Amino acid sequence: MMEKTLVIIKPDAVKKNLIGEIISRFEKQGLRIAALKKIKMTKEQAKGFYIVHKERPFYESLTDFMSEGPVVVMVIEGDDAIARVRKIMGATNPAQAEEGTIRKDFAENIERNAVHGSDSPQSAAYEIPYFFSAIEIL
Ligand code: CMP
Repeated sequence: MMEKTLVIIKPDAVKKNLIGEIISRFEKQGLRIAALKKIKMTKEQAKGFYIVHKERPFYESLTDFMSEGPVVVMVIEGDDAIARVRKIMGATNPAQAEEGTIRKDFAENIERNAVHGSDSPQSAAYEIPYFFSAIEIL
C-alpha cells in the first residue's frame, strides 16, 4: 500500500553532517522524498510532537534533546513506507540495531539515536501535518 511517513533527522545527526548520508539511504531503497525542510523546534514544539510519550520518564530529556539544535523533517512516500523506513533506521536502541542500519551506524544511545520515523499510520496522520501543510507535500 502507498504510504507516507514522517522522518526526522535528529540534532545529533545534523550536528555530525549526516543529512545527505541519511537521506541517501532512504532514496537508495526506492523511497521518495515528498517534502523536506530544516527547522529548529522550541521545547514546546518538541513536547507537542512527542505528546504520546508525556507520561514516560524520558519525556523531559527527549524534548530537551529534540530542541537543542536544528533538525531536518521530511515526508517520505512509497509502497509500505512506514515499515520500510523503520527497517532502514534499525531498532530504537542502537545496541539492538541490525548491521547496516542508520542507528547501528550513527546513533549515540537510545535517546540520541539519529532519526525518528512514524511507527504507524495513526502516528503518521498526526506527525505529517504537525510540520507540513498539504501544499508542501509533493
Ligand atoms: P523515536 O523513534 O523518536 O521515538 C521516541 C524517542 O524517545 C526515541 O526515538 C528515543 O529518542 C527516545 N527514547 C525511547 N525510549 C527511550 C528510553 N528508554 N530512554 C531514553 N530515550 C528513549
